[in-house]
Amino acid sequence: MEIEAIRAAYRRYARIYDAVFGPILHPGRKQIIDALNCRPGETILEVGVGTGLSLPLYPGNVKVTGIDISTEMLEKARARVNEGGLSQVQAVLEMDAEDLRFPDSNFDKVVAMYVVSVVSDPSRVVEEMRRVCKPGGEIFIVNHFRARNPVIRLLEGLLSPLAKLVGFHPDLALEDLLEKTRLDVVDIRSTNLFGYWKVLRCRSSARGPRHLDADDATPTSTLEEYSK
Ligand SMILES: C[S@@+](CC[C@H](N)C(=O)[O-])C[C@H]1O[C@@H](n2cnc3c(N)ncnc32)[C@H](O)[C@@H]1O
Repeated sequence: MEIEAIRAAYRRYARIYDAVFGPILHPGRKQIIDALNCRPGETILEVGVGTGLSLPLYPGNVKVTGIDISTEMLEKARARVNEGGLSQVQAVLEMDAEDLRFPDSNFDKVVAMYVVSVVSDPSRVVEEMRRVCKPGGEIFIVNHFRARNPVIRLLEGLLSPLAKLVGFHPDLALEDLLEKTRLDVVDIRSTNLFGYWKVLRCRSSARGPRHLDADDATPTSTLEEYSK
């Protein structure tokens, strides 16, 4: 999906986004913030911050920067920051997650909530997230990935040509993303309705030597359990 098609989709969504995607996707946002295990003074980048639904969830003692390519979504995020007096939010910037304007090794933690199946090049976004994350830092992703159930997978395949209209790719395969990026995943948990979305916690190491398999995504899977 081209960037202009994505911008157009979120221009349409901005007004209704919170009502449609707010509560239903909120458990995943909360799960990521818990998993972040924020420490005082930590710097956090959230790519594809959208209307900023996650921003009030960050504790007051961290420094959060949010970026997004949609002007209309960002307007909502800025209003939320101002109205809520969210002092943990340092900046909300219009920027392409595929071409981040930050130096290497700039953030302690980098987060993407419901973004990797929206962008035109998911691997490129993951590479950028890794580049701007400090060595020893962590990358967190929550997203829906292609279902394993063959019936649902078929439906997702049928919906795929509508990606431009709906604004995301319903059939992004976790296995493919992990294979291309060699993300060093240390934990995968299921979240939201029917556990249909996955929360990934990853080390920001250069290119991970191994990763968990999507088929092992259970509510409690860890690398140790995977290795047994
Ligand atoms: C499904 S929304 C998720 C918003 C928010 N993270 C949430 O939890 O509700 C996807 C967001 O990704 C943004 N986006 C899509 N492509 C992007 C890109 N290349 N760079 C930055 N943001 C992008 C969209 O504008 C939209 O706000």
